Amino acid sequence: MTTLAEQAAVGGEKPEGPRPDLGDPSFWQRPHAERLHAFALLRQWEAPQYFVEREKGRGRRERGFHALVTHADVVEASRNPEVFASAPGATTPEPARWVRALFGDSLVNLDGPSHAQLRRIVSRSFTPRILGRTEEDIRAVAARIVDDVLADGGGAALSDRPGDFVTAVASRMPFEVICNLMGIPEKERPAILGQVNRASGDTGVARAARDRFRMPGKGLRALASMQGMVADLGRERRRNPTDDLISMLVSADVDGQALTGRQLGAFFSLLMVAGVETTRNAIAHGLDLLTRHPEQRALLMGDFDRYADGATEEIVRHSTPIIQFRRTLTRDHRMNGHTFRKGDKVVLFYASANRDETVFTDPDAFDITRSPNPHVGYGGGGPHYCLGTYLAKQEMKALFRELLTRAPGLRATAAPVLVPSNFDNRVRSMPYAVGTG
Ligand code: HEM
Repeated sequence: MTTLAEQAAVGGEKPEGPRPDLGDPSFWQRPHAERLHAFALLRQWEAPQYFVEREKGRGRRERGFHALVTHADVVEASRNPEVFASAPGATTPEPARWVRALFGDSLVNLDGPSHAQLRRIVSRSFTPRILGRTEEDIRAVAARIVDDVLADGGGAALSDRPGDFVTAVASRMPFEVICNLMGIPEKERPAILGQVNRASGDTGVARAARDRFRMPGKGLRALASMQGMVADLGRERRRNPTDDLISMLVSADVDGQALTGRQLGAFFSLLMVAGVETTRNAIAHGLDLLTRHPEQRALLMGDFDRYADGATEEIVRHSTPIIQFRRTLTRDHRMNGHTFRKGDKVVLFYASANRDETVFTDPDAFDITRSPNPHVGYGGGGPHYCLGTYLAKQEMKALFRELLTRAPGLRATAAPVLVPSNFDNRVRSMPYAVGTG
């Protein structure tokens, strides 16, 4: 069998031999750079790759999927939701029937009017106008985290003291911000954080394969209990509304629409994954990238206001916190020379589209001045485009401003430890030091 390195040696010509198998769990255990290289090879094929049915043992079979690896394909499929539907599931594996019965349908798995209706209710709390009010709070959260980092780093001496950047900094920022937004009481937060960690702690390829056939485990029980707690809060806010997001979500809007208790619980769980884990990974990759590219870091530190927007976009493009989402064909369709059949599964590989050399010059370079930067890190457009883009940017800018100005010597002291996953570019841990500036 030809190795990836041998295929690379073919140079500009179309590689021959076996294609990297994205459906093989062991592919996702390989080093990140090797996987990106495999995507670069796949982009050289004219048509998307198709996996035939795979034998999964004990008589079970798994349907294959088309892999969309170019920027053009990912954008086109994202913007054609009538053909590329999110139901029955935008994640792989799709949620089991009992999971949907228990938790209800998540926004990411809905299409058409039912998606539009739910999205309308939740998006009224995520407009830049509403979020503008939270800017002060986001800055305060960032400042508190950096206070702790400095205290932990040795106070006046600021001596190097390795710790884990993910737990000390990256995950705290989005978790605190979402809890503040939602109005989650301080006393409930440690339990929620514990439940989130239990629910998501060992995600990745192995768990995805296991969950398909297993009944609810500890993680799902934790999720159910978290959703129950949030639904209770919703009932309480309906009786005594405050100015938080839960009150807004459970109060009827001008059309008389509001979230039910179950929908509120499901939306909160989605926010914990979509809003906390993504941003935490982007922040951790951000520090890694700024450490490995001192010239980019110097540029950013030299004029933060000028380069901050470009830096947050480039961090998301380069690291692509969400590797992929899936769609299912509602009818036969031809796109970019390839025929898809009704019922076919199609995986939109944002991680590959963001390195597409026909769109991005020198795509592997980390360049905070890149302009334009039409990356698909928040999705390729269309109705499911990330609801939290504005919030994620606000959080990243506030945190890096505080970190780089108040702890200018802070850096990652080793490469991030990644969780093998075909869904998100998740950082398990990353050692850091405060340094001396
Ligand atoms: C760097 C951080 C983030 C990244 C990389 C990211 C990425 C994404 C991606 C790729 C999608 C799917 C888009 C599609 O299918 O077209 C998505 C959807 C979504 N994101 Fe984000 N996200 C981030 C932060 C956030 C935050 C902070 C929130 C909320 C607080 C959030 C809430 C959502 C929601 C609710 C959806 C589902 C939208 C729908 O299906 O209509 N995300 N995000």
